[in-house]
Amino acid sequence: MFHERTRVAIIGAGPSGLLLAWALRESGIDAIVVENRSLEYVLARIRAGVLEQGSVETLTRLGLGARLATEGLRHDGIYLQWGGERHRIDFAGLIDRTVTIYGQQEIVKDLVTAHSSVGSTIYYAAQNVAVHDVDSRAPLVTFEHEGESHRVSADFVVGADGFHGICRPAIPADELVVHERTYPYSWLGILADVAPSTDELIYALHEDGFAMHSMRSARVSRLYLQVGPTEKIEDWSDENIWQALQERLGVPGWSLAEGPITEKSITPMRSFVASRLDYGNLFLVGDAGHIVPPTGAKGLNSAITDVTLLAAGIIDHYSGDDTKLAGYGAAALANQWRVQQFSMWMTELLHRDRTDPRTADFDYRSQVGRLDYVSHSVHAQRSLAEQYTGTRF
Ligand code: APR
Ligand code: PHB
Repeated sequence: MFHERTRVAIIGAGPSGLLLAWALRESGIDAIVVENRSLEYVLARIRAGVLEQGSVETLTRLGLGARLATEGLRHDGIYLQWGGERHRIDFAGLIDRTVTIYGQQEIVKDLVTAHSSVGSTIYYAAQNVAVHDVDSRAPLVTFEHEGESHRVSADFVVGADGFHGICRPAIPADELVVHERTYPYSWLGILADVAPSTDELIYALHEDGFAMHSMRSARVSRLYLQVGPTEKIEDWSDENIWQALQERLGVPGWSLAEGPITEKSITPMRSFVASRLDYGNLFLVGDAGHIVPPTGAKGLNSAITDVTLLAAGIIDHYSGDDTKLAGYGAAALANQWRVQQFSMWMTELLHRDRTDPRTADFDYRSQVGRLDYVSHSVHAQRSLAEQYTGTRF
């Protein structure tokens, strides 16, 4: 049995766990990260790629902005498309804010590099990870690593272990309410080795369903299609994917360049919020506490907000002030519900729901009406711009 002591034991080496460990380290607070997947797996996971301006500022402030500054693509707006017409929403012109396109796996890579340069303690491929006594003053984490049993005692345990992790279930069921909503569609996402056919992201509502054109670099495109909730990726040939994308994203005088598809998968859409993000000395950050549907790309950004709030609370705690730590759950949930309503609004604005044939046509026409309103009203555009770029209040 290998015994260790740390101030903060973090479960999960996704963006939330790695960023929290880094932010604490920058303030001289030691942490141990325990991850059940291999480093190779963690580095290869492909997720969204839009950073709010505040997220870019946070990463830069923490010394993680070097590659982001050179390889990130700054976008001053987005396109909304419906009825064969494309309309630009000019964030920079409207509110002087922007977003940056930089894949989540690039942030994870930057964090892994930063941690390994300073020799942080991160256990990958840990088995049987368990948390104990989180409601006491002496919480404990146990796991096996390379055949050895480990026991880590800590002041705090942080659940950064995503939606399927073990930390949220460590809160007694009668202490936690789950607020949840699913959607009757999924996203089929592809990465393709082809230069993007657009300078900024295109979000399109089409009679056949939603489609989006995003990107990862000057040579790699990321595209999404709304598909049915039970569809299987095996049933979508590359040819059929491109055909549907051409159909839904097409506008007169513009063409979508096709290229080899290097990755394709289907992701379900879910909205989920745990009613509390703290329990005793356990704190939840990122997907462990909440999930948004991907429209608007808020998952990573709100995880960064959680980490920023929790890191400030833990740092203050070690200077003798517990005000921020005691307020972490309420502050993170208030931000989260603002993010939830925006993600749901974007999702329901742009997807076709044909579940009920009696309302499907009416809903589609009112979605077009809403898009038409946004494209005409500077107030609606400012509201969209504020929420998309992540203006903090
Ligand atoms: N023990 C240790 N680690 C675990 C366990 C466990 N029992 N269960 C899960 N993990 C790990 C996962 O393998 C993963 O590496 O926790 C990590 C959680 O990472 P993410 O799921 O990426 O969640 P988070 O870091 O909060 O990132 C939020 O990522 O999922 C996207 O859309 C989300 O963009 C958002 C961001
Ligand atoms: C992405 O590039 O993966 C992406 C972009 C915008 C979104 C969601 C995902 O709203």
